[in-house]
Amino acid sequence: MLLGILKESAPGETRVALLPENLKSLLAQGIAVTVQAGAGISAGASDAAYTEAGATVNADRASILSYTDLLPVVNTLSAADQAMIKSGAIVVGFLRPLEAPDALATAIALHVTLFSMELVPRISRAQSMDALSSMATVAGYKAIINAASHLPRLFPMLMTAAGTIPPARVFVIGAGVAGLQAIATARRLGAVVEAYDVRAAAGEQVRSLGAKFLDVDLGGINAEGGGGYAAELTEEALDRGRDLITRTAAHSDVIVTTAQVPGRPAPRLIRRDAIEAMRPGSVLVDLAAPAGGNCELTVPGETQIIGGVTLLAPLNLPAEVPVHASQLYARNILNFLALIVKKGEITVDLGDEVVAGACVAHQGSPVNPRVAKLLEAANLSA
Ligand code: NAI
Repeated sequence: MLLGILKESAPGETRVALLPENLKSLLAQGIAVTVQAGAGISAGASDAAYTEAGATVNADRASILSYTDLLPVVNTLSAADQAMIKSGAIVVGFLRPLEAPDALATAIALHVTLFSMELVPRISRAQSMDALSSMATVAGYKAIINAASHLPRLFPMLMTAAGTIPPARVFVIGAGVAGLQAIATARRLGAVVEAYDVRAAAGEQVRSLGAKFLDVDLGGINAEGGGGYAAELTEEALDRGRDLITRTAAHSDVIVTTAQVPGRPAPRLIRRDAIEAMRPGSVLVDLAAPAGGNCELTVPGETQIIGGVTLLAPLNLPAEVPVHASQLYARNILNFLALIVKKGEITVDLGDEVVAGACVAHQGSPVNPRVAKLLEAANLSA
C-alpha cells in the first residue's frame, strides 16, 4: 500500500498532515510513504528529514495523487486535485463536508473514500483523534498572544519603582475548547479574566482556571444542545447575552470571542455599541470569523481599526503555529488511521461508530447521514 503526503495548497496554509516522526509505525506495516517535495518545510520538517525517516520524496504532485492509496491531508482537495486521485483511494482530513459538501462531488464520483476529521464523533474513545479540539487549543492560545502583541498595554500587573501598572482585563466569550485555552493563556500572562458562555456547565471549568464566570438569566430556556455543544438560541435569549457583553466590553482591554453552534452560522453576539464602548487601543479577536463571526462588524480574514479598537478576524490561527499544530494534527490523523489500516491493509469497517461517523462517502455513496442529506439537497438544486 502507498501513502502520500502532499504539500498543502490552500493560501496561507503552513501545516502538514504527517511529520517524519509519525512514519515509523506505518513503515513497519509495510506501507510505502511518498512525500511531495517541500510538504513539511513550514512545519519544520525538511525533505531530508522525511527521507531519513524512510519516505521517498517526489516533486510531482500529480503522480502522487494518481498512484497513492491513502492520502492524509490538512485541508480539503481542490476539484482539480480530486480529478487526479486514484479511484478507490482514501482521503482523510478537514474536508468541510457540512460547509461545502458539493465541493467533494468529483472525489465521490471516482469512488474515493472520504473521511472528515470534523465529523469524528466526540466520544471518549475518539478523543485521541479529536482534531477540532487540537486546533481549537492552538487557536485559543494564539488569539491571546496576538491580542497581547496588538495591545498598547502590558498584560501583568507590575509594581515597579516607577509606579504600579494594573493588569489587563480580558473577556472571553464562549468557554469551549478554544475559549478555555484563551482563558488559561491570558491568566498565565497575568491578566484578570472574565468569561461568558450559554452553557452553565462551562462555569465550573472557567472558575477552575481562576477566571470569573458571568451568568446570564436566559429566562429558563435550555441552552445545551447535544454532545456538550450549545443549542441555537432565540433572538430574545441572544439579546440578554448581547447586553451583558456590551456592559463588560466597557471595562475590557481584550475580548476573545469563540461562540459557535455546530453546523450553523456563528451567533452575532457583539453589537457595534460594544465596540464603541471599548477604550481606544483595545483589541477584539473574533475566532468565530470562519463561521461568519460573533461581531456584527467582523469582516472574516481582515484586520480593522474601528474608533481606535483593533478588530482581528483570523481565518486560520493554527497555521500561525505550524510546528505544534502539525504535531497535534498528525497524532490525531495517525490515531484515526489505526482504525482503518490494519497490518498494512485498508479495512473500512462501517460497523464502527467512529469510522462510520467520520465517513463522508464510501464506494461512491454518502455515509454520514447529515452529509448525505446535504448532498441530496445539492443534487436536487443542481
Ligand atoms: P464550539 O466551538 O461549538 O463553541 C464554542 C463555545 O461557544 C461553546 O462552549 C458554546 O457553548 C459557546 N456558545 C455557543 N453559542 C453561544 C452564545 N450564544 N453565547 C455564548 N456562548 C455560546 O464548541 P467546542 O469548543 O468545540 O466544544 C464545546 C464543548 O463540547 C466542550 O466544552 C465539551 O463539553 C464538548 N466537547 C467534548 C469532547 C469530548 O467528549 N471528546 C471534545 C470536545 C468538546
